[in-house]
Amino acid sequence: MARKKFIAGNWKMNTTIDEAVALAKAVVEKAGQVADVDVAICPPFISLKAVSDVVKGSNVKLGAQDVHWEAKGAFTGKISCAMLKSVGVQYVIIGHSEQRTYFHETNETVNKKVKAVLAAGLLPIICVGETLDERKTGKLFSVVEGQTKGAFAGISKADALTCTVAYEPVWAIGTGEVATPDQANEMHIFIRKQISSLYDTDTAGAVRIQYGGSMKPDNAKALLALSDVDGGLIGGAALKADDFFGIVKPK
Ligand code: PGA
Repeated sequence: MARKKFIAGNWKMNTTIDEAVALAKAVVEKAGQVADVDVAICPPFISLKAVSDVVKGSNVKLGAQDVHWEAKGAFTGKISCAMLKSVGVQYVIIGHSEQRTYFHETNETVNKKVKAVLAAGLLPIICVGETLDERKTGKLFSVVEGQTKGAFAGISKADALTCTVAYEPVWAIGTGEVATPDQANEMHIFIRKQISSLYDTDTAGAVRIQYGGSMKPDNAKALLALSDVDGGLIGGAALKADDFFGIVKPK
């Protein structure tokens, strides 16, 4: 089954509001009319409203980098699904390795966030991926299996179909060290197998799996040509509109 490619930019903790607006304008200028690839940008929370106004009317969609699973209340510093919806967010990155490493994200909190996002009618981008140590010690598949099954626990098939998974080997994020095409596709096929075991092959065949980790214009074409790589979650290269567009439309 043909899966439409999906390229999302994760701006992480970069850009002031003015910088975010300028970058969003540049992305819209280049990618705003692209129709054969889904494109999203995920600025910091504080810039969501301003960037939402910039992307409105274009094909560039808006995403957030995280969310809290509770609806409202005494959760200082947190942002709810309803707040994200109110500024036009469609996608939410959940379980990024930086959240797992620095901010106590676990497979359980990922699952709570996925459920909250789906209940709100938003679209999760669920990040999974092994550390270098886990790869070296042969635990890569069991780790990614646990992360994948943990994220989808209790999620209906209809909801699962609206999820995107991002395979981001932690050792490749921001390091310039990219997974080889074989390493990436092997894990993407493995993740699809996990989804198939939870649902069925049709569902697994429909869920998009992005690769993330030092994806750049010069390696994007080879990665995106792989049978099971359906797009990219882009960090560093998403901070320059030319580079980001070079991944949306690699030469
Ligand atoms: P990178 O980050 O492209 O800078 O490696 C990817 C990510 O963390 O989403």
